[in-house]
Amino acid sequence: VFTTLASYREWRQNVFDQKKSVGFVATMGALHEGHLSLVRKSLAANDLTVLSIFVNPAQFAPHEDLTTYPRTLPRDLELLSSISLSVLVPGTVEEIVRTPSAVFLPSVPEMYPSGISQDVSEQKGTFVEVRGYGHQMEGKSRPNFFRGVATVVTKLFNAVEPTRTYFGQKDIQQALLLRRMTRDTLLSHPSPENLHIVPTARDPVTSLALSSRNTYLTPRERELAAPALYAALMVAQSAWSSGDNIDTCIQRARQVISETETRLNSGQHEKIDMKLDYIEMNDPETFNLLSGVTTKAQWEAEKDEGRAVVLSGAMWVGKTRLIDNVILGDP
Ligand code: PAJ
Repeated sequence: VFTTLASYREWRQNVFDQKKSVGFVATMGALHEGHLSLVRKSLAANDLTVLSIFVNPAQFAPHEDLTTYPRTLPRDLELLSSISLSVLVPGTVEEIVRTPSAVFLPSVPEMYPSGISQDVSEQKGTFVEVRGYGHQMEGKSRPNFFRGVATVVTKLFNAVEPTRTYFGQKDIQQALLLRRMTRDTLLSHPSPENLHIVPTARDPVTSLALSSRNTYLTPRERELAAPALYAALMVAQSAWSSGDNIDTCIQRARQVISETETRLNSGQHEKIDMKLDYIEMNDPETFNLLSGVTTKAQWEAEKDEGRAVVLSGAMWVGKTRLIDNVILGDP
């Protein structure tokens, strides 16, 4: 476990001298099976795997949950020490067991030598902005979010110097924006093609996308209300496949959420507030909102055959904001 840049870099230099590949998973902690699925992908493809845990102040707006964001370090380290993966040594029948090699836990002052304020107007120092790609979808509700993410991930890439890196489809805009950032900045550690996107890990019973923020939900919210977001995306997906235009698909999805809310609040139970922030379809290249009258057939005729669409949504359940997405067609 490395808590300073200098101690991590010493380890990294040694690994570099031994010509070992390094896989990297960036997290904010409160680890769950979604994070671990990224770690397993990394274990499978790299000699060594590094995970970072850093709750990044720059990606939280002043009104957001920076101070209450779950911090569960002892449990996180325990979870990490419990995972291992058997892999074949290339070109042999020999099997080796890989486990995570290092955890990087930097401090706020070391990550932000010029200081950091959550108030953008007070910020000083160096920031990374992927212009044109941070204001749609999630960026509409969280205006400086992707600037904070791109900034911290640049720092983490410079510190960790990974051969390959793994991001979750759960945060699809983040992963695609960061891939663009590695391309735009001519990064080699990792190179853009070594930024891998891993499918969303879900609760096996409710299909709710796993998220550190799910710990904010009450059992009823988690089991009955939150899964409506993915259910809504599924309804929109099947409407899209059967030829409905975007407006109709989105309307169907909205209906799933409003009907769930009505049903959950019709009994004696404590009221659950469900508020849809957005459900929309976007072009995965530009993140542009797709036009409401487009159907699947029209989209495919206009674009190369099979070009994907991102169907994504965000919903409040009480005071917790949840996001999810599915890719329609091949990504
Ligand atoms: P965090 O929310 O901790 O997520 C860390 C990584 O795990 C991200 O790549 C995210 O997409 C992935 N992940 C989260 N839930 C997942 C799930 N259910 N299935 C698959 N992958 C999942 O995303 C961040 O942290 C931060 O923005 C960060 C990139 C670390 C920058 O601060």
